[in-house]
Amino acid sequence: MLEVEGLHAGYDNLRVLHGIDLSVPAGHLLAVIGANGAGKTTLLRAVSGLIRPSAGTVTVDGRAVDGLRPERIAAAGLAHVPENRLVFPSLTVADNLALGGWTRRRSATPADRDRVLDLFPRLRSRLAQPAGTLSGGEQQMVVIGRGLMAAPKVLVLDEPSVGLAPRLVAEIFAALGRLRDEQGQAILLVEQNARAAFRVADRVAVMDRGRVVTTGTPADLAGDDRVQSAYLGGGYQSTVD
Ligand SMILES: Nc1ncnc2c1ncn2[C@@H]1O[C@H](COP(=O)(O)OP(=O)(O)O)[C@@H](O)[C@H]1O
Ligand SMILES: [Mg+2]
Repeated sequence: MLEVEGLHAGYDNLRVLHGIDLSVPAGHLLAVIGANGAGKTTLLRAVSGLIRPSAGTVTVDGRAVDGLRPERIAAAGLAHVPENRLVFPSLTVADNLALGGWTRRRSATPADRDRVLDLFPRLRSRLAQPAGTLSGGEQQMVVIGRGLMAAPKVLVLDEPSVGLAPRLVAEIFAALGRLRDEQGQAILLVEQNARAAFRVADRVAVMDRGRVVTTGTPADLAGDDRVQSAYLGGGYQSTVD
C-alpha cells in the first residue's frame, strides 16, 4: 500500500536520508525506530510531501506520489499525523474531527466519524468539548482521528507516544493494532519508544543516520544484542501482556 524506494531527502545543503527502502502492505504495521536525529521525522516529511525528495520513489496505493504537493499526496490516500499533536484548541472535538475530512472528494460521512469514535470511545462523550481542554492523550486521539476522517489508505504517525503516560500509550497503540487487524489499515509508525512499538508492530526497521540498518520482526530484533542494548534497555520479552 505504501512503497518507498531509494529515497533521498534533506534540507538545503544537509542530506539526511541516504536511500531509504521500505514497504507497508495493507493490514500491516511497520514501526521505524531510531535515535534522536536519525532522520525519522524527515522520512515522514519526505513521504507526505512536506519536503521534496531529491531522489527515489514513493508509491501510495499503486500511484507514484513523490514530488507531488502534500494535499495531492493526502488526496492519493496518505494521512500524516505529525509529531506536534496540534489540535485546534478552541474548536470542539467534533469540529476538529470534521476538519480531517477535507481531502475527500465528498465530505466525511457520519460513518467515518463513527469509525473514529469506535476506535477511541472516550472521545464520544467529549464531542462538544473544546479540544484544548482535553488531556494530552485525548488530544493525540483527536489528531489521529482527524487523520482517519479522510479514510486514508496509509496512516503515518510521528512519535504519538511522546509525553504520554504508559497507560495512554498502551491504549493508543492498542487502537492502532485494532485499526490494522479489523480494517486492514496500512500503518507506518515512527517511534523512539521502541518497547511500545515492538508490542504492536508486524515488522520493525531500525534507522541510523539516514539509513535503515536492520529490519525484521519484533521477535527477530529483540534477539539482536545491539538492538536490545541500544533501544530496548535489556528487559524486552515478546510475550509480555
Ligand atoms: N527543518 C530542518 N532544517 C534543517 N535541518 C533539519 C530540520 N529538521 C531536522 N533537521 C536535521 O535533520 C536530521 C534528522 O532530523 P529528524 O528527521 O528530525 O530526526 P528524528 O526524527 O529521527 O529525530 C538532524 O540532523 C536534524 O538536525
Ligand atoms: Mg522526529
